[in-house]
Amino acid sequence: MVVPEPGLPTEVTIYEVGPRDGLQNESAVVSADVKTEFIRRLADAGLRTVETTSFVSPKWVPQLADAAEVFADVVKNVDVDLPVLVPNERGLDRALELGARHVAVFASATETFARKNLNRGLEASLDMFAPVVARATDAGLRVRTYVSMAFGDPWEGPVDPAQVVDVSVRLIEMGCDQVSLGDTIGVATAGQVTSLIDRFAKAGVGVDKLAVHFHDTYGQALANTLAALRCGITTVDASAGGLGGCPYAKSATGNLATEDLLWMLAGLGIETGVDIDKLVDTSLWMADRLGRPCPSRTVSALAAERQ
Ligand code: HMG
Ligand code: MG
Repeated sequence: MVVPEPGLPTEVTIYEVGPRDGLQNESAVVSADVKTEFIRRLADAGLRTVETTSFVSPKWVPQLADAAEVFADVVKNVDVDLPVLVPNERGLDRALELGARHVAVFASATETFARKNLNRGLEASLDMFAPVVARATDAGLRVRTYVSMAFGDPWEGPVDPAQVVDVSVRLIEMGCDQVSLGDTIGVATAGQVTSLIDRFAKAGVGVDKLAVHFHDTYGQALANTLAALRCGITTVDASAGGLGGCPYAKSATGNLATEDLLWMLAGLGIETGVDIDKLVDTSLWMADRLGRPCPSRTVSALAAERQ
């Protein structure tokens, strides 16, 4: 039964990260053909933004070493927004060569994670991103930034919201059009989400500039998403089947599952244009390819109902 809640957005953009955040952390490496089929199926289910891969060092993320092959295929054959991760100018060059129109840099709110994930401190990583963002915006690309460890960090503990806002504002000033607030290790709770978004508002950053990116380690991703929607956020990152994690953040598990999100949004009467049955088929198909069950509760429930 649909129960719209006053004050919630009427439409939500789902920013699908399964092919990138999902597959970067799987011990089973799937072939480029499986990846391209995954992306095609996600688009066919109605997802309009599908983060495709990462142009990072293949030594750092071997699961996505075939980024060029995968992107070259889907950019020709899949007609949706296909953002890719780029950490440095080398990554941007590779993305531009293949016709990328939307890239994402990925900053950290903490010093330790910047070192673990990017092999340099926070300031040096912002220096690395500045020319990437400048060149990408000059070339007319959309540029998102992630700000990881926006709520808690496995090495540093709770993260000061002032630090998250400061790093984000610097990236917006560089030219990023959207900041995705990353709960990389899935420790955030709803009150923290509301309070962080409020801190952004006080710093002059509206919800139109923000997206949320919750991992579900403590089972809070959906509650956190609802808290963010109540604050006016309309872009939510999610991963088909709940795949995901970050190889450089200990204790990071899967992202908010796209199907779990769809189930909640449908109940609230919020439009997404995504066909949940097609998505469940895709997640079950991918779970077979990965040789492990799908972590999404909604996928399990809908699959059980079919039997
Ligand atoms: P480095 O070792 O400091 O870089 O790594 P370097 O410039 O010294 O280069 C080292 C080697 O990498 C060289 O190769 C370069 O050519 C190569 P070698 O000479 O040794 O053969 N290289 C590249 N190759 C391909 N594409 C590139 C590239 N750059 C260098 N773009 C670097 C620095 C940033 C490259 C490295 O640390 C890296 O690739 N890190 C990526 C880590 C990563 O992808 N993490 C996961 C994504 S972040 C995440 O999951 C969080 C998120 O989901 C949000 C959240 O949940 O919070 C986004
Ligand atoms: Mg992530």
